[in-house]
Amino acid sequence: MSVFRATQHPGWPAHLGPVRVAAGQVTLRPIRLRDASAWSRIRTRDREHLEKWEPTGRGSWEARNHAGNWPSLWSSLKAEARRGSMIPMVIEVNGAFSGQITIGNIVRGALRSAWIGYWVSKELTGQGVATAALALGLDHCFGVVGLHRVEATVRPENLASQAVLRNVGFREEGLLRRYLDVDGAWRDHLLVGMTVEEVSGTVVDKLIRSGRAARA
Ligand code: ACO
Repeated sequence: MSVFRATQHPGWPAHLGPVRVAAGQVTLRPIRLRDASAWSRIRTRDREHLEKWEPTGRGSWEARNHAGNWPSLWSSLKAEARRGSMIPMVIEVNGAFSGQITIGNIVRGALRSAWIGYWVSKELTGQGVATAALALGLDHCFGVVGLHRVEATVRPENLASQAVLRNVGFREEGLLRRYLDVDGAWRDHLLVGMTVEEVSGTVVDKLIRSGRAARA
């Protein structure tokens, strides 16, 4: 059974890192059922920081991010992960839940592609956490997971996320008009992409060489 799973979905589950940045040691691990209270507490508190960049949901922000909703969300993400189409990870800083990074729509065959998305707790922003998490996620995609291309979409207004994407080496590919229903309206998004040929060594190595991160 485990052999079948490993073949179907190399790279799940995985523990990645650590990488050291200003905020501390950044690691990635699979989502857990017991993440409910940390997930809910941070997301409820950080509504203003998060809501304007996230897909529109049904019901109030408080209701959607209530700890009681985590078990069903956790279960559906895990089911996708077991099917091989997603890698839903928690970003930890010094061992504490600090955000999420998700590799989604994993397609194999001749495409071998996926998208990547993330958020970080407001109190930890500006200290290299998302950049380190994204670098770890990309190295995983191009390494064990065996992908050829990873893409991301970002609102033109989201300058912090664009900086993160640029700093790990994403290239801009175009503007997707009215692409996604975000914060209550159809929003334009920039499409960025990267293929394995564009990475020399690893993305984490590149961050370390540029002084943005250090080996832990
Ligand atoms: N204008 C321009 N650049 C900015 C701004 C701004 N207003 N604010 C921050 N930055 C830059 C920083 O200077 C830094 O770049 P630098 O290293 O070149 O100086 C970069 O943005 C931030 O880098 P990190 O510290 O690694 O990122 P952080 O841990 O702060 O997380 C993130 C950034 C994920 C965007 C966080 O603010 C967040 O969670 N925002 C809300 C949710 C969100 O936007 N998620 C991303 C959606 S798009 C996607 O998932 C592909």
